[in-house]
Amino acid sequence: MAAVLVTDHVFADLEITRGLLEPLGVELVIAPATDEETLVRLVHGAQGIIVCYAKITRAVLEAASECRVVARTGIGVDNLDVAAATEAGILIANVPDYCVDEVADHTLALLLASMRGIVGAVDSVRRGEWAVPQVPLPRLRGRRIAVIGLGSIGRRVAERARAFGLEVVSYDPFFEGVLPEGVQRAATLDEALAGADVVSLHAPLTPETHHLIDDRAIGLMRHPSVLVNTSRGGLVDLDAVAVALDDGRLFAVALDVTEPDPLRADHPLRVHPRVLLTPHMGFYSVEAQQELQRSAAEEVVRALKGEPPRCPVNPEVFALVPAEA
Ligand SMILES: NC(=O)c1ccc[n+]([C@@H]2O[C@H](COP(=O)([O-])OP(=O)(O)OC[C@H]3O[C@@H](n4cnc5c(N)ncnc54)[C@H](O)[C@@H]3O)[C@@H](O)[C@H]2O)c1
Repeated sequence: MAAVLVTDHVFADLEITRGLLEPLGVELVIAPATDEETLVRLVHGAQGIIVCYAKITRAVLEAASECRVVARTGIGVDNLDVAAATEAGILIANVPDYCVDEVADHTLALLLASMRGIVGAVDSVRRGEWAVPQVPLPRLRGRRIAVIGLGSIGRRVAERARAFGLEVVSYDPFFEGVLPEGVQRAATLDEALAGADVVSLHAPLTPETHHLIDDRAIGLMRHPSVLVNTSRGGLVDLDAVAVALDDGRLFAVALDVTEPDPLRADHPLRVHPRVLLTPHMGFYSVEAQQELQRSAAEEVVRALKGEPPRCPVNPEVFALVPAEA
């Protein structure tokens, strides 16, 4: 019987996955933990891996001698050693399109809540008060937002921001194609940040983008400004953010992702009055979860049948996958 290792997942159950794989005679092996030693042990004999947040390291991939595919139930692949998988001839597939509207909506929800002081106002009403907050809330229309990363999510954020009357400038060194209507393009990150009232991050986490927003970058923005990150926590240096909140350069910070993710329970930013943290939930909606589980399992089915992947991360490997099931 073939086996597929599920290292970790965010679903209430795996019925959709079972429904697609069990008819092919595949047994699901659910990992009880995600440490490297456990995964190295369990991956022996598995033809596929379904992974969410677990680290799929070189050691895990080297132990996965029968594995044809690693399907990530998500978009980012920074927890997978893609180079090692490619060397081992293992296909990596992700699901780049399951939640792009959800994350774009969540970004705008965080931005609007921050700029309208929603959480503080709701808290005060719950305490029995009824007064306009005494914080200097800025008008949204006419402000400038820098959208960093103009991929699937960044593009949707840019379009939504335009609808709110924001001036949108984007920065994406790899962007090719047509800019969304009314969206400007900056040639450099510094040019995008200069004079931005709001910065919203939608670039992937790579060695180049780690701490993209640090003390120097915050220094380039208009002061005070708002920072929103729904991409990956590693893009933002939280120590620099804490300093900038205190010295007034940042008016508000809204993060769905942090470094580390989750942020430790006693981290001061968790309770800072001008910080909104949500628990890495931008991807979540009932429909998106169903689509995600189905799409990842379908990639495994295709790989086991020797069919071309829908969303390969390392497409060069596909030619190496044997054609028979
Ligand atoms: N909060 C959540 O729940 C959640 C859910 C899904 C995705 N995400 C994150 O959102 C990120 C964006 O997702 P997407 O679907 O738009 O990905 P995408 O690949 O479509 O877009 C990413 C864009 O960033 C650009 N980019 C790469 N390096 C850059 C740099 N140095 N500076 C500026 N831009 C750069 C790329 O050219 C690309 O256009 C993902 O990397 C993922 O980590 C978060």
